[in-house]
Amino acid sequence: RMMGQHVRSKDQETRLAHTLKISHCIIVPGNSDEDTRILEDMGHAAIKALDFLLPVGKNVVAVMGGTTMVEVAHAMDEKFGENRQLLFVPARGGLGESVDIQANVIAETMARKSGGKSRALYVPDHVRSDTYSLLSEEPEIKETLQLVENASLVLYSIGSAFEMAERRGMNDAKLRLLKEKNAIAEAFGEFVNPKGEIVYKLSRIGLQSSQMGRIPHVVAVAGGRRKAKAIEAYVKTVPPHTWLVTDEAAANEILNGG
Ligand code: G3H
Repeated sequence: RMMGQHVRSKDQETRLAHTLKISHCIIVPGNSDEDTRILEDMGHAAIKALDFLLPVGKNVVAVMGGTTMVEVAHAMDEKFGENRQLLFVPARGGLGESVDIQANVIAETMARKSGGKSRALYVPDHVRSDTYSLLSEEPEIKETLQLVENASLVLYSIGSAFEMAERRGMNDAKLRLLKEKNAIAEAFGEFVNPKGEIVYKLSRIGLQSSQMGRIPHVVAVAGGRRKAKAIEAYVKTVPPHTWLVTDEAAANEILNGG
């Protein structure tokens, strides 16, 4: 019976990857909206995926922030770092998040738990273009941004547009704009509509989704029934070699049209 279940879930993973037009999906049982243990399971599944994808030796891993990423960081362990020299870098600055879920902190936690190293990226989230030019020429920032661009793997989560807009402290005018533009999902500070078109960008410093195609391994971690539409939309912007770690609730909603 266990074998039958396994085959069924493998089949569902294949179907989901096919529907989303990406290379691989991992589905953990349950609904992370209702049970935080499912989020932990997704964290462990994400580390397993990273362990499979990343070669031994030197690797730079670019990470994003958020509560899902916090769980992935918790699941990180020494074994993962055993045959690897790991350097974790935030793919972006803070994006208006509270400190404990910022990419800087996720990178630092992952480094500590795997016996690797990390670098921080302390830059303001919203800067004017002249400030941006100056900042990106600043040697320390430039070096970190170059590491990000040359990362072997990028790890991030996807959120629902309005939940994320509020969490990132966007004002009423911006919220109205997102509504007008039919924003449904957010990742990397980029808001997309159901067609997967970017309708608004929050920050300009760090990795842009358009640069993801050049990164050898891309792993997105997002689940819960309420994120299904966001995942479906955002995945339209991602490179085809993307792996998605999700849960059964999101997968069912996407596959059965919800
Ligand atoms: O951009 C997407 C968010 O980082 C997702 O945040 O993991 O807290 O839902 P979350």
